[in-house]
Amino acid sequence: MVKFTGAHIVSIDQFQRADVDLIFEVADTMEPYALRKRVTRVLEGAILGNMFFEASTRTRISFGSAFNLLGGQVRETAGFASSALIKGESLQDTARVLSGFSDVICMRHPAAGSVAKFASASRVPVISGGDGDNEHPTQALLDLYTIRKEMKGKGRSIDGLKIAMIGDLRYGRTVHSLSKLLSLYKDVEFVLISPHELSLPKNILELVRSLGFKVSCSDHLTESIVDVDIVYSTRIQEERFPSKQQADLYRGRFRLNQAIYTEFCQPNTVIMHPLPRDSRSDANELDSDLDDNPNLAIFRQTDNGLLVRMALFAMVLDVVNKVEQYSYAARWYKERQN
Ligand code: NCD
Repeated sequence: MVKFTGAHIVSIDQFQRADVDLIFEVADTMEPYALRKRVTRVLEGAILGNMFFEASTRTRISFGSAFNLLGGQVRETAGFASSALIKGESLQDTARVLSGFSDVICMRHPAAGSVAKFASASRVPVISGGDGDNEHPTQALLDLYTIRKEMKGKGRSIDGLKIAMIGDLRYGRTVHSLSKLLSLYKDVEFVLISPHELSLPKNILELVRSLGFKVSCSDHLTESIVDVDIVYSTRIQEERFPSKQQADLYRGRFRLNQAIYTEFCQPNTVIMHPLPRDSRSDANELDSDLDDNPNLAIFRQTDNGLLVRMALFAMVLDVVNKVEQYSYAARWYKERQN
C-alpha cells in the first residue's frame, strides 16, 4: 500500500485497490464538513499553493474549497502570464521556491510529465490537477467514487461494471486515468466509442487488454450504449489539437439527449462527464434536456470531488484522525438541495 503521508499524487500507477478503498473510506467521513453541518479547523495555519497553468474552473476551485473546508488557506497562480514561468524559470526552480511557502501544492500544467518533474524538486507533497494529455488522477478518483455510490444505490459494485467511454479518448486525460483505475477491479467491460483518430492511447489499451478485460471499440454511439451501466461522455479537447479546424472535424459526433437515452439506454444507465460539457450548438455532447433525468450524475460528480480532495489532503498531511477532534457544529443556516 501507498504511504500517503508526505506523498505526491501524480498518477494512478502509484495505487493499488486497497489504497483506493482507503481514500474512499476517508472521503465518506468528510461529508458533514463538505455539507457545512460541521466545521473543522484541523489544517489551521496550513497553506495550499494552487498552481494552475491551464484553464480550469471546477478542479482549481474544488482543490481550494476542499483545503478551506479543512481549515487551511489557499494561495493561487492561474495562467503562465502571471507567473515567472513566462520569464523562463524552470519548473524545478519554481517548485523549490513555492514549496518554501506552502504545505502542499496542487498543480495543473499543459505538458505531459510536468507535474511529476515539478514534484521531484518540491519539498512538500504535490497533487496533480492534470498534466497535458497524460493523466488527471484526482478526477478519476472522484469519478470512481461516484460510480461506486451510484452502483451501490442499485445494489451493484464496481466489479462487473460495463462502461462506455465516449468522445476524445486520445487527448482526454480523465479517461486515461479512469481506465487505469478501473483496471484495479474485476470483470470490468470497456466500450470505447470514438473516431478512430481519437482512440485510447495504445499503452493504456494494451494495459487493459493484457489484464484480461473485455474491450470493444466503435465509432457509433447508439448501438454501443444499449447495455452499459455507465455512459462517460467527454469533450473534444480542442486545446490539444494542432488547429481548431482539426478539432471541428470531431465536434458534435456523439451527442446524447433524452430521446436517444430513452430509445437506446437501459432505464437506469448512469450518465457521467468530467465537465465542462461543451454546450455550444455545434457540440452539445450532453443535451440540457437530460438535466431532469435522475441518472444524470454530472453534478454529483463535482460534489463528490470535494470529498475526495479533502480526503487526499487529510491523508498526505496526516490529519485523518484529527479532523473530528478539531471540529464543531456550523453556526450558520445551510439548507442544501441535491
Ligand atoms: C477535464 C480536464 O481538464 O481534463 N475537466 C476536469 O478537470 N474536470 C476535462 C475537460 O477539460 O474536458
